[in-house]
Amino acid sequence: MTTPLTPSVEGRRALVVGGSTGIGRGIADAWADAGLDVLVLSRSAPRGPGAERLDWLATDLTDAARVDEVLTAATAGPLHAVCYSAVHYGDRRALFDEVTEAEWRRQVDVNLHGLWLTLSRTLPVLRRTEDPGLFVGVSSEVVYNAGPGRSGYAASKAACAVLLDSVAQEELLGRADEGEGQEERVRVVQVLPAEMVDTPGIRRRRPEDFDYSSYMRPASFAPLARELATTAGAGLHGAHLVVDGDGTWQPVGDRTPVSQSRKVPA
Ligand SMILES: NC(=O)c1ccc[n+]([C@@H]2O[C@H](COP(=O)([O-])OP(=O)(O)OC[C@H]3O[C@@H](n4cnc5c(N)ncnc54)[C@H](OP(=O)(O)O)[C@@H]3O)[C@@H](O)[C@H]2O)c1
Repeated sequence: MTTPLTPSVEGRRALVVGGSTGIGRGIADAWADAGLDVLVLSRSAPRGPGAERLDWLATDLTDAARVDEVLTAATAGPLHAVCYSAVHYGDRRALFDEVTEAEWRRQVDVNLHGLWLTLSRTLPVLRRTEDPGLFVGVSSEVVYNAGPGRSGYAASKAACAVLLDSVAQEELLGRADEGEGQEERVRVVQVLPAEMVDTPGIRRRRPEDFDYSSYMRPASFAPLARELATTAGAGLHGAHLVVDGDGTWQPVGDRTPVSQSRKVPA
């Protein structure tokens, strides 16, 4: 059993879209450890140790009517923290000419449009919290390192990063150029791993005997997730933070994430 670290966040409500597995699950678990009540949206239920602490609503982000229904339920009460981690990688790396329009649309739907829908429904609720609400987007090295064989993933993730940067600027109140102090209505923070992370989504694209010993684990995101939840992201609004395997983090300008782009065999 874990002791909540900061009593003041006890009972605060959080939403993690794509929190059943992988990095989203690492963040959902860390927020539950810190004492938040966490609701996960995903197609499959969270499983394994700690899953019983997470509330869950079955959601397919490509089903607009269901997304509307669950986001209405999720935003019915106060909400303090939201994380968007859902992703559709596709079955394998494929050159642009080999990607069907249906696959492209699925990446846009899950990776980007799901983020837009989540922002549009949760920002008004996050703005009503006493402290600034917190919105965490899980980003990727591909935003900085586009490469062959993953154009849909790269384009959708880059669009997510710019969407969140734009929203972050809109959430700043007051005009610095007129000498007013600026404050955030909702704090927006992007987080990404420094290297590959061993997650179910990545495992689906690797051979069974693949060696994951050099890969990071989703739990590396726990220290930053706890920090963000307990401070509501104070001092980190608009940041892109690169998380290392040891759980430390640095701004992307100080720690270039390793490119996972590879040449595609001719
Ligand atoms: N793993 C890495 O090495 C790595 C590197 C850089 C960035 N990232 C970023 O980290 C984030 C998480 O990736 P991950 O590797 O942790 O992925 P993951 O283990 O595959 O988790 C993806 C999450 O998205 C949910 N999801 C997928 N399709 C969905 C749909 N149609 N409707 C609702 N939920 C859906 C999954 O739940 P269900 O399957 O239950 O629906 C799961 O909760 C992504 O934003 C990715 O870009 C990962």
